Parts: sequence; structure tokens; C-alpha cells
Amino acid sequence: MNQRQLRFNSVLVAVALVAASCAGDTGPAGTAGADGADGADGAAGATGPAGAAGAAGADGAAGADGADGMDGSDAIAAVPTLEGHNGDHGMILPYDVQAAYNDDTFFWRVTYRGNEGKRHQYLRYTGGAWQKEGGDRRDAQGSIDGDEDQGDQGQLSTIYEQRTSIMVNDPSATVHVSNFAEGGCFLTCHNDSRHMPEWTAANGHDGKWVDPSHMTGSPADRDMALDLWHWRGARSNPIARSDDQYIQTLDWSAVTRTGADDGGRRGDAGDSVFFNQDITAGNPDYMLDPATTWGQHSFDWDDFWVTPFYYMTVPEAEMLGAFAPNATTIEWADVTGYTAAEGDTVPRRILRPGAGSRADITAYGTTFTPDTPDSSLGVWKVQLQRALNTGNAADDIAFVVGNTYDVGFEVHLWEYTTRDHYISFPMTMSLGTGGDIEAVSVTGAGAFAIPNFDDHATYPPVRVDLFQPGITTWEFLDGSNAADGKVYNDPVTGAVVDQVHGGSSSVGGTACTVCHDVRNGGALPMETLAAQRGGVWSDTPTDAP
Ligand code: HEC
Repeated sequence: MNQRQLRFNSVLVAVALVAASCAGDTGPAGTAGADGADGADGAAGATGPAGAAGAAGADGAAGADGADGMDGSDAIAAVPTLEGHNGDHGMILPYDVQAAYNDDTFFWRVTYRGNEGKRHQYLRYTGGAWQKEGGDRRDAQGSIDGDEDQGDQGQLSTIYEQRTSIMVNDPSATVHVSNFAEGGCFLTCHNDSRHMPEWTAANGHDGKWVDPSHMTGSPADRDMALDLWHWRGARSNPIARSDDQYIQTLDWSAVTRTGADDGGRRGDAGDSVFFNQDITAGNPDYMLDPATTWGQHSFDWDDFWVTPFYYMTVPEAEMLGAFAPNATTIEWADVTGYTAAEGDTVPRRILRPGAGSRADITAYGTTFTPDTPDSSLGVWKVQLQRALNTGNAADDIAFVVGNTYDVGFEVHLWEYTTRDHYISFPMTMSLGTGGDIEAVSVTGAGAFAIPNFDDHATYPPVRVDLFQPGITTWEFLDGSNAADGKVYNDPVTGAVVDQVHGGSSSVGGTACTVCHDVRNGGALPMETLAAQRGGVWSDTPTDAP
């Protein structure tokens, strides 16, 4: 643990005193370790420090701990065991995948243990003014340190939704990513992606893209390189929806970026299932409609972990999702009889039905089953439904019966974004026979005809070990960084970070998995190797000035 992190943790405690009174007290002492990341969540005041210590332990122990690393992967257990962030195997997250399709609809179910992650960003009245709360952990750290190289500035706290996403490549399309089956999502990760060594605030957020040289056919004919099913625990799930995006083929490193753009990760055409509200002339644009909240225009910051009003929707979405009726919005101009008081809080992201291609994916039947007394940790069964062919060829990859697709899976836990997520090596999924995952054909039609995925005999789960990739950009992996003489320094030690990848001469056409396994005990295991390239508690190396 370095100096920066110590300061970060102490600030988290200050930020998060809130939870001590409402959640922390009930948990038995024994759960404190696992709850550690919860502390980082900007949440549990009392458990926060303990959590940080736990996570640091995981980093340190990742290599040595490997010996007992085989639990969970040898048999399909009822649900995967959370290994990351709990003191063991910090780099690995077991994840079960099931898939099926009927006459017109495709169904995924993915199961994993993780945090609840149903909250995102908020507007809070404090010290006589409304301010924005929440964001990810690296931006909070960058703000605390006043260090623009490490993240966005001005972030006050860490509250971030939990997410899982699926990247899809269609090898039978004229224009597709030629080597996604070998390189997977690593192809989308670059030196100037967010929280990578050459990122600056001017680059904006996200920054995933596929270089046109990796595309077959004429990339100019198709903007989309990869389809992205992007489920969000706060910004889509409460109304049983998923976000729907795609990854562009465009060399964003050659584009003058505005700081406001999303690099090559794009929303599909239409309206997303959430939008941001802002503070206009000193007040939120929207408050909670008291007609839907037993009279409240806001909730009290002290009730953060217990309020049912942690999300709100536009009136058109009041009856969507498993928790309906939902608290809805009222525009500030229509608010009467309300004066802001210290601690008043409203959601900053507002859920709405969405429209067009961006709103193609539903999340009916998704459940979270808590494992811990304070509900902070548990099992997610995320279910996604979408038309086999949405008719939106510009930004969706249609699934055709009989065909096989390249897929990559990803999970973001707690307030970790960007490279601190868990990813899979590329896999294949078929609507027929063959492939790592065989989607099961079922009778019926429509998104409501959800298969009974608890029937594992009919819908066998495929266990995938996700891992944290560390700072492994494509330019590192394919040897460009070494060839270009890139020099990145560790900001804590000042040491130069090695840019030589042992397999670089084969990267591009040879699958990572030809040389690498995920777990210790296998060949050149990611569990150990990727951990050497920066975990969640490591700062991002910076390029030499
Ligand atoms: C031809 C074999 C080969 C292929 C293909 C290959 N690698 Fe490697 N990789 C190696 C070797 C060898 C090392 C060095 C191992 C060591 O240091 O012990 C290595 C090291 C690594 C490391 C650790 C880097 C470090 O700092 O030590 C990562 C991360 C990694 N590979 C990721 C990948 C990914 C992701 C892919 C696919 C895009 C890939 N590799 C493809 C052979 C390969």
C-alpha cells in the first residue's frame, strides 16, 4: 500500500461515515473482510478500512495463493464463488454462461458473485449548495491527489454501479474483426484509453476502438466493429433494461478528441434507457415526485443505504421493472412547498424507457440474492433478451441460427471501472452445435418466453474464469510499445515499466490461449502474470514527458 492509497482510504472513511449508523452495525464481525470493497464503495464507514486492508492483501498474495486456486473450476457449482476482492485470487472471477433462443429472441443468463451495485451518481444538498456525488475509484483518487494523469478532477466520492457486458464479433459478416477469436477484447484496449499510460483528460472517456487494420473487408462500409450488450446495475436494471452499444472501428489515437466524447464506444441509435440530470441555476433539474414517494422530494443522505428511492424514473417508466411502481420525477419548475435542507439527495441518473436501437435489450428475470446481512454482496443472475435480428444492422449484430460468433465477457464490480474490470479470453458461441457455448433452441417466441435457466440439465452453464487484465494494451501485447521505445514510469517508485511482451511476435494471429491459461497451475497463467501489470490498488504509469 502506498502513500496515496493511505490518504485515499482515510478520505473514504470521511466520505462514508453515513453507512456506519445504518448498515455496518448489524454485520457480524466475521464478514468485515469480505466487505472490504464495500468500504471502497464510498459506503461503509466502519468496514471501509478493513476492506482496504483485505484488498491489499489479495494483491500481495495473488501469486503465492495460486496453489489452492482450483476450487470452483473443476465442477459447475450451483453458483460461482467470488474470489476477487476477498483475499483470495484477487485477479479471478468465476462466471457461468447460459444461452438459448426461440423463434425470434435470444436469451443470455450469466451468473456470478459480486456486489449489489444498484446505485450510481447523486445530487446532494450540503453546505448550502447542490453538488454531484459519486463516480469511480480512480477518478476519486485522481481528485484527492490533484493528479490529472490518474483520473478526472473534482470528484467528491465513490459510488458506482455494477455492470456486466458481452462483446460480439460476427466472423461471417463481410466487415468484421479479423482476429477477435485470437485477441478478444484486448484488441479494443489502447495506450491512450482511459486510465492507461497515455490517457489525458482531453481524450474523453472509455476510449475503446478497433484499429481499421484489424478489420476484414472495407471498414468504411461498417462503422461497427463489435456489438456490445451492456447491462448496468443502476442505469438500466431497475426498469428491467440493458444498455445497447457498439465498438467503432476507427483509429482514435489519430483523431483530435474533445474530452467530451466517448472514444470508440458508442451508444446505438435512439435514446438510452437513462439520462443525466444537472444542476441548473443552483437547483436540480428534477426532484422526486412526492406523489410517488409518500411525500418526499428527496431522500436524506443519511438514509443512503436504506432508502427505496435510490433510483427514479420518468413517469413513462413508472410501471417498468421488478420493483414497480417506481418513484418518478417532477421537474424543478413544478416543485412547490419544498426548501432544500442539508443532506437532501436525489438520483442524478434518471431511468426512462429509451427508444430505437439503443433500447433493444431487456433484462427480465434478473435477480440479485444477497449473501451478507447488509446485502452488499451476493449472487447476480443477469438475464438479457433481444431479438435475434433487431433490424438495426448499423449497430447490432444479428444472431442467425446455425452460425457461430466470437464473444467476450466482462464484469465491473464495486466502483472499479476501466482496466480494473474482469474480462474473459475470447470464446465462441453457436446457435446450433459447436463452440464453447451452445445456445439451446427452445420453442416459442418473444422476450417473455424466458427459458428456465435454473434447469442446468437443459441449459448447461459454461464456467468461464474471468480475470483482471492489468495494463495490457494492444500496443504492449503486439510489441509496438517495445519497438517504438515507449517509456512509462511507475509514479510511485519512478521505475520504468517493462514494455516487452514475451509472446509479441505471435500476437495478432495466435490466440492468447495457445500460450496462456487463466489460473495458476496452467501455462503462463494470467492470475500471476497480469497481476504484475497493475491491480486495482496500483497507480497508472505515466509516459515520460
Ligand atoms: C506465442 C505465445 C504467446 C502468445 C500468443 C501470447 N503470449 Fe502473453 N506472454 C508470452 C510469454 C512467453 C510471456 C512472458 C512470460 C513470463 O514473463 O514469464 C508472456 C507474458 C504475458 C503477460 C505478462 C506481461 C509481463 O509484464 O510479464 C501478459 C499480461 C500476457 N502475456 C498477455 C497476453 C495476451 C492478452 C495475449 C493475447 C492477446 C498473449 N499474451 C498472447 C507468450 C505469449
